Amino acid sequence: MPSASHNLVPATPAAIERAAAVLRAGGLVAFPTETVYGLGANALNPAAVRKIFAAKDRPDWDPLIVHVSGPPMAQRLTTQALPTELMARFWPGPLTLVVRKAPCVPDEVTARRETVALRMPRHPVAQALLAAAQVPIAAPSANRFGRPSPTRAEHVVADLGEQVDLILDAGPTELGVESTVLDLTQSPPVILRPGGVTREQLGDLRVAGGVADEVAAQGLVGPGMTLRHYAPRAPLEVFETEAALKARAAQLQGRRIGVLKPTAQNLYAELRRLDAEGVERILCVLPPAEGIGLAVRDRLLRAAGRQLS
Ligand code: TXA
Ligand code: MG
Repeated sequence: MPSASHNLVPATPAAIERAAAVLRAGGLVAFPTETVYGLGANALNPAAVRKIFAAKDRPDWDPLIVHVSGPPMAQRLTTQALPTELMARFWPGPLTLVVRKAPCVPDEVTARRETVALRMPRHPVAQALLAAAQVPIAAPSANRFGRPSPTRAEHVVADLGEQVDLILDAGPTELGVESTVLDLTQSPPVILRPGGVTREQLGDLRVAGGVADEVAAQGLVGPGMTLRHYAPRAPLEVFETEAALKARAAQLQGRRIGVLKPTAQNLYAELRRLDAEGVERILCVLPPAEGIGLAVRDRLLRAAGRQLS
């Protein structure tokens, strides 16, 4: 595997300017957000967006999130009036809004859907990049499709290496799990993916009669929310209690087992670390389905190849 670290640079103001030029020229830039690292291209350039899918091995039916510099840029990408209250409270931050797309948004970004996912990141490097590039940035997580999301620049190098023109390194990300995806084309809005903004935070905001809890009610329905997503190479087994995990560990005595103690911040890095150690199996107790724990549970159940229930 190529180490390809020549394209890995600290996210200095000069490097951010260079990255903006790469984006405007139709290239790929990996950059930090407060959740995970993203693999970005100019969202208004279909050829550039296609490069994202090729680099990640991402199926073309899985739509991308478009990152914006703020509500005015977001409003140009949708025919829907964006909810000012929701944006004022959660933007910039880990809340992605799914809305009806404007004609200027290419089919490549939305996987030919009539809707587009919009998010204003709060990481200063992501914000500086958007300000310098002056274009909306389509960016999924910067991992190979199906692998744990990258929370450090080195994870991007390991998964994508040479396929990215420039990787901006700003150290480990703050939250460690992806943004919450909220579908505003349905009434009440539906959480398609739990994430950095919690269900509790959304719940006390009375938007269109509250937020439907699709996640807990029916399992996730969003495109790309496939089973065995975010997965380590070693099989992952999840348990509700410490006692259940211990009983299983006893059965597996003599085998190379890794026990994962997940927090949102360390989840993906730990999955990668245990893989690198070459453990045969990873065991983990699920956190309670509260706050950010809901997102961590969701990713663990997916990594284990199980439906959220
Ligand atoms: O925190 C995050 O959201 C990170 C950082 C980089 O911003 N991005 C991220 O992107 O997690 P990605 O591609 O790994 O996940 C985006 C998910 C898609 O898999 C899909 O389920 C959902 O967002 N999505 C995107 N566009 C959608 C649409 N039009 N309708 C429904 N869901 C959509
Ligand atoms: Mg992803």
